[in-house]
Amino acid sequence: MSLLKAATDVRENAYAPYSHFKVGAAVRGASGRVYAGCNVENVAYPEGTCAEAGAIAAMIAAGETELTEVCVIADSPEPTSPCGGCRQKLAEFGRHDVKVIMATVSGKTSESTIGDLLPAGFNSRHMDKA
Ligand code: THU
Repeated sequence: MSLLKAATDVRENAYAPYSHFKVGAAVRGASGRVYAGCNVENVAYPEGTCAEAGAIAAMIAAGETELTEVCVIADSPEPTSPCGGCRQKLAEFGRHDVKVIMATVSGKTSESTIGDLLPAGFNSRHMDKA
């Protein structure tokens, strides 16, 4: 299944009564399977979760720990790029060269990589003791 289609479809289920900004995300696991997630807001605003977090959670729940491609879609004037926290979450499970496709409902797309979105990010090597 195409990542863009999966992200577009799941976006319909986003729960965004506070921001009214629905986001859909899909990740492809190393197996080729596609996992989708949408943003889930909460009246206690900081408790809301992003679409990317939902897609990653679905992948992990299915028993996969490596993602090979990402797609995010929202109804924004320009393609929405993952927030800082989601960049860190994506970097946990995807190599730096993993493609991130960002799309708008109106059909604009742009492309980046996890590494370009999160240069010099915190990683496990920082915790190695000399
Ligand atoms: N949002 C995402 O789902 N992913 C992002 O990368 C950016 C922001 C959601 C969070 C919140 O529900 C809404 O968009 C507005 O910030």
